[in-house]
Parts: sequence; structure tokens; C-alpha cells
Amino acid sequence: MTTQNSDQKSVSRRGLFGAAGKATLTAGIIAPFRRLGGVAWAAETAKTYKKWVITKPVTDNKITTEHFKMLELPMPQIQQGQTLIKVKVINIHSGVRSRMGPKGSTKVGDTDMYNYGCAEVLQSRDRTFKEGDIIACLAGWQSHQAISSNDGPQVGYVPPSELVKELNGTNSPWSYVFRPVMLKMHTPEVLMDVFGTSGTTAYFGLRECGPLMPSDKVAVAGTTGSVGAMVAQIAKAKGSYVVGFGGGPERAKWVTDTLGINKALDYRAADLDAQLKAAFPDGIDVYSDGVGGPLSESIAKLMKPNSRYLSYGTSAAFYDDKPGTTAQQTGRIFGMTDSVFKIIQERNIKLEAWQVQAHYQDRIEAENYLSQLINTGRLKPVNTVVEGIDNVPKGIVSQYESNVYGKLQLKFA
Ligand SMILES: NC(=O)c1ccc[n+]([C@@H]2O[C@H](COP(=O)([O-])OP(=O)(O)OC[C@H]3O[C@@H](n4cnc5c(N)ncnc54)[C@H](OP(=O)(O)O)[C@@H]3O)[C@@H](O)[C@H]2O)c1
Repeated sequence: MTTQNSDQKSVSRRGLFGAAGKATLTAGIIAPFRRLGGVAWAAETAKTYKKWVITKPVTDNKITTEHFKMLELPMPQIQQGQTLIKVKVINIHSGVRSRMGPKGSTKVGDTDMYNYGCAEVLQSRDRTFKEGDIIACLAGWQSHQAISSNDGPQVGYVPPSELVKELNGTNSPWSYVFRPVMLKMHTPEVLMDVFGTSGTTAYFGLRECGPLMPSDKVAVAGTTGSVGAMVAQIAKAKGSYVVGFGGGPERAKWVTDTLGINKALDYRAADLDAQLKAAFPDGIDVYSDGVGGPLSESIAKLMKPNSRYLSYGTSAAFYDDKPGTTAQQTGRIFGMTDSVFKIIQERNIKLEAWQVQAHYQDRIEAENYLSQLINTGRLKPVNTVVEGIDNVPKGIVSQYESNVYGKLQLKFA
């Protein structure tokens, strides 16, 4: 079902579903060097484009392929200040299910616009973008889209700082043209996985926590997921002792086999506390927390005085189906419960909790650092790729079926 090889530069699970929609899994490796820049792109001749919309709200977190419907619509005609893009790859986030809920931002008849995407510019009447550019932007579940560099942040995100606007040349932290060198080195999948927030969150998080030392004992939650897989590998590259986690023995084994870190524990194991104690006999120096909930409560108990805590997310809440559990009660942005906060205060733990765009003026610094790690074989992009726009519903539903490693991506072109 999976192919993971610790000698490979990147790990990718592609074609989660075959062309006929069969749930087959095959694995492949993303070619680390594929030139995209400078290519003469074919002008768009299609008269229509495909777009998935939702048919009904997702209730009680029970998402199925019946919640989606495909529309075939006339190709957008761009106005002055607009750009027509062809969407190549979009990242799927665990929050998509709640955005499709009765109170969510994606309404019946709408596509979900809040996906980080990589796209090719087909036509432009916007001075920021030119034909052939490969860009990052917010994209829907659709093959084509009209965008503008004036589009602001969407779905509850704060506006970008002046420095980020200057860097991107747009009004959004998420819209920018990739530098040619990035296109030369990385595929669209890697651009959206490592550089489309997973790697950058990991990089800024560890940077803000202070330099990692070989003597540091580091716990990394969510290590089968997109950000955690990056944090674990960066910490390993720094020479620290790194322990990760997976939901079940098979997923924990994947972590050590694929990421090559010191140890990985099954966070669902009945004797997790004892296993944690054995893994960290002298306590924890750094905890990278993208999950919150019960695992974080267990880990926090082992943190040393003056240690460092990076809190960037709350996957436990996003993936938990049962209302009323500890995970569900934690905040949707950062997953710390009261007991974890108490430990943080009592032990004078340095807490870093923010969203990645707070550091996005340093995006190029992160891109350079992470590219260097990839190019020297110390960082593997990790993603699960579902190919073909027809497979959007199955791909999104698979996010909640525990068969995704790293970033789930939908690849359209
Ligand atoms: N602050 C920021 O700027 C920023 C940036 C990016 C992401 N985030 C947030 O960070 C979080 C993680 O993002 P991601 O993209 O890495 O997520 P992801 O790829 O969906 O991975 C989720 C991870 O959480 C683990 N997990 C799920 N339920 C768990 C539980 N109850 N206890 C322990 N672990 C559990 C999963 O393990 P198994 O699948 O093996 O069970 C998996 O490793 C999300 O909340 C996201 O919104 C924040």
C-alpha cells in the first residue's frame, strides 16, 4: 500500500484512486528537479472549465462523496486587473470538513475557496502576473479561476503586513509568483507541500523557539502529518534526539522508516505514558505541538523547566468525530488545554503560538533554508497525491480515513 524509502529525496503516494475511481494506492517519487520556468505554455482553448461545489452541509462530521457535485461552466472572461489561471495542485486541509458544516464558510452551491494552490497563468490583465508564471494563490476545487493581485486575505485571515505585500507584490500573503530558481528545483507538489506552509511553519517555529542543539530532546506530535513530518526532519538535521508519533503501530513505524528519526510511538497505545517516560528519561527540551488534546497533556507532564513549546495547531480537534471529548473542547487554532497552560506557567516554559503568515516577510529565508536541506538529501517532502479533477470528492473524503501521509494534495494538471 505504501512505498517509503529513507534513501529517497521525497516520498509521495500518488494516484490514490485510479482513473475509474478505484481505491488503489500506488507510490511514486517526485522528481526533485523538474524545470517549469521559461516553458512556452499552450494558450487555453477550452471553452468550459470544471468546478466541484457542495450539495448539502456536512452534519456530524460525516463527509461522503454525496456532498459534492461537479459543474461544467463557461471559461471565466477576465476583466482589466484580472488573471486567468489553470490550477495545477491544491493542498487539502483537515479543516475542510468543518468549513462544509452547517455554520461553515463553504455554502451549498459553492466551491471551497480556501485551499493553497499552485497554478499556471494562462492570460493576464494584471501587471503582477504574466502568461506562463507559476504562482501560489488561494484556489477552489476547480480547473480554472479568475484571480487578481488585489484580492485580499480570505476566510478569516488577517491582512498581510506591508513587508509581505511588498515581497509578494500582491494584497495577500498567499498570492505570489514563484522565483524561477524554485521552479527549477521543485515540482508544483513540492512547492505546495514544503513551501506552501508545512515546511515554512516548521522552519519559523523552530527558529522562534531558539536554536536547536544536538543535546536537545525533542517531541514532535503529528509526525505522520504535513507540518510534523517537516519539524521532525529539521530537528533531526540539527542533530537533536527526535521522537515522533503516529495513530497506530503501522503509522508509527512509517515515521521511523521514512523520516529516519530516533523513535516513534503509537499515540493511541494504552501504555503511552510509560512509553513516553522510557523515551524521555530526563525530560523534554522542545515540544512541537500541532495536535493538542490528550497527547499534548501527556507530553507536557514530561517537559523540563525553561523548555520550549511550539504550538501551531489542533489536529486532534479537526479529526475527532465524537463531540464532547477533550480534543473537541480545545480551541480550533491552538490545542492547549488548561492543564497544559498550567504546566507552561509553573515551569516557565517558553511558548510560541502564532500563524505562519506572522513571519511571512521572511518567506524567502525559509525557502532558501528548506531548499538547501532538500537538495542535500536531509529533508524529504512527504505528500499523498490524488490525481485528476474527477477524483476530488474521493480525495477529500480520504483525508479522514487515516490513509494519508504528509500533505494531501489534489493534482489537476
Ligand atoms: N499556525 C500555523 O500557521 C499553521 C500552519 C499549518 C498548519 N497549522 C495547523 O496545524 C495542525 C496540523 O496541520 P497539518 O497540516 O500538519 O495536519 P495533517 O497533515 O492533517 O496531520 C495531522 C496529524 O495529526 C495527527 N493526529 C490526528 N488526531 C490526533 C490525536 N487525537 N492525537 C494525536 N495526534 C493526532 C495525525 O496522526 P495520524 O494520522 O497518524 O493519526 C497526523 O499526524 C492543523 O490544526 C493546522 O490547521 C497551523
